[in-house]
Amino acid sequence: MWLSMDTSRDELLPLLADRVSASSFDPDHVLDPSSLDLLLQAAGTAPSAGNSQPWSFIVGHRGDWVHDRLVDSLAGSTRAWAPAASVLIANLAQVHVEDSDLEYSEFSRYDLGQAVAHLTVQAAALGLSVHQFRGFDRSAVADAFDVAPHWEVTSMAAVGVAFGATPRVAPTGHASSTPERRSLTAITWARAAPGSAGASGAPGRTRRAAPTRGRPTA
Ligand SMILES: Cc1cc2nc3c(=O)[nH]c(=O)nc-3n(C[C@H](O)[C@H](O)[C@H](O)COP(=O)(O)O)c2cc1C
Repeated sequence: MWLSMDTSRDELLPLLADRVSASSFDPDHVLDPSSLDLLLQAAGTAPSAGNSQPWSFIVGHRGDWVHDRLVDSLAGSTRAWAPAASVLIANLAQVHVEDSDLEYSEFSRYDLGQAVAHLTVQAAALGLSVHQFRGFDRSAVADAFDVAPHWEVTSMAAVGVAFGATPRVAPTGHASSTPERRSLTAITWARAAPGSAGASGAPGRTRRAAPTRGRPTA
C-alpha cells in the first residue's frame, strides 16, 4: 500500500530530507500540551523487542520546575542553546529487571532510539525541530527525578521551533554549511547487485563496501 504524502516514490519523505537538529530555538514559542501528547504518542508507536516498550520520558516545558531541573543538569556546550527550546525531554531506557542485575532487554537502548526517532518525525510534521544530545549530567537527572536503578537516563532532546539556519556537522565531526551524509556505498556493508540471481552467495554476486569507519569487531 502506498500512502499519498505529498511526495513521490523515488524521493525521500520531505520530513526526513529536511530534518535538522536545530541549535537555535525560538525562546517565545510555547508547545501546547496536546502537541506534546502527540509527540509522546508517536514515541509510543515505535517497534520494540518483544513489545517490551522499554522507554520513559521526563518532560519539562520551558519555565516549569521539571524544565528547571533538566536545565541544571546541562553541560556548558548544550546550556548555550537547549534551554531556549519549548520543551526538554530526558529519554530513559529500562536496562535491568526491577530490583535485579538481570538485563531487561538486549535492545533497550536500540528501542529507545527508535521511539525518539518516531517522536522526531512527528515533531517535524508539526513544524518543530528536535535536537537530541548527550551533553548533560545523567546522574544529576537520575537524582533529581528519583530514577530507579533499573532505568538509565540515556539522552535528552530539545524540542521547539528552529530559529535561523543550523550549521550541519559532517560525519567526520567537522562543521559544514551543507548537509553531509555518508553515501549509500559507505553505509552498505553487503548487497547483491541489481538483477543478480537468488541467494547463492556465489563470489561476484555480492558486493562488500569498504566501511569508512567502525568495522564491527565481532
Ligand atoms: C544520541 C545522540 C547524542 C547526541 N549528542 C549531542 C550533543 O551532546 N551535543 C550536540 O550538539 N548534538 C548532539 N547530537 C546531535 C548530533 O550531533 C546530530 O544529530 C548530528 O550532527 C547530525 O545532524 P542532524 O541531526 O542535523 O542531521 C546527538 C545526537 C544523538 C542521536
